[in-house]
Amino acid sequence: MVTIREEAFRDVAAREALLDAAYGDSRFTKASERLRDGRLPADGLALVAVERGRIVGTVRLWHVTAGPGRPALLLGPLAVDPACRNRGIGSALVRRAIARARLAGHRAILLIGDAPYYGRFGFAAESAGELWMPGRFERDRLLALELKAGALAGARGLIAATGAVAPKPDLAALVAMDRRRQRTRAHRALAA
Ligand SMILES: CC(C)(COP(=O)(O)OP(=O)(O)OC[C@H]1O[C@@H](n2cnc3c(N)ncnc32)[C@H](O)[C@@H]1OP(=O)(O)O)[C@@H](O)C(=O)NCCC(=O)NCCS
Repeated sequence: MVTIREEAFRDVAAREALLDAAYGDSRFTKASERLRDGRLPADGLALVAVERGRIVGTVRLWHVTAGPGRPALLLGPLAVDPACRNRGIGSALVRRAIARARLAGHRAILLIGDAPYYGRFGFAAESAGELWMPGRFERDRLLALELKAGALAGARGLIAATGAVAPKPDLAALVAMDRRRQRTRAHRALAA
């Protein structure tokens, strides 16, 4: 059975592996990455799908402004383990994310993605027609969903990141973690 829950720190490595498998290195060059880089996702809106203890899907939403003074969320990246696709996991993640965003009082969700996929959840290009991503993007892939009617009426301008800045990793902690991992690996090799 697949369950959807909030992402925890221990899920980060599995989530990153999933995103590498789904998007490869190009994921770091996307315009949407400029809006996520160095930021924390919106509270309660980093979700994972889990099956038998394994992360098989991921989606996160981020605070942005849709033109000046117009708070919204940016959805992405969404990915499902290639071995688990076409079982409704991606749809379940998107639907859960939308429901949670609505419950939390957010007004609109933007994303860059395939309209034939995201259309089923109500995303469309029309209400994002006067918005611009910070970098190259395909206009017909910039989609929006209003959670409150009229939330994007007249929206015009640059989409900009507004989320909390992620704390910088502490080098000493990273080195210590690496040493611990090396020691554990050495102990395992000795025990084998
Ligand atoms: C896109 C993705 C998240 C869908 O996850 P999933 O769990 O397989 O999705 P679901 O099972 O909920 O939905 C499957 C349906 O979506 C369709 N679909 C999947 N990707 C699609 C796409 N890029 N465009 C249009 N339809 C798509 C499937 O054909 C299937 O259609 P059906 O319901 O008519 O049979 C997954 O394929 C993935 O991680 N892809 C790699 C990332 C990617 O390509 N993203 C681009 C999408 S913007």
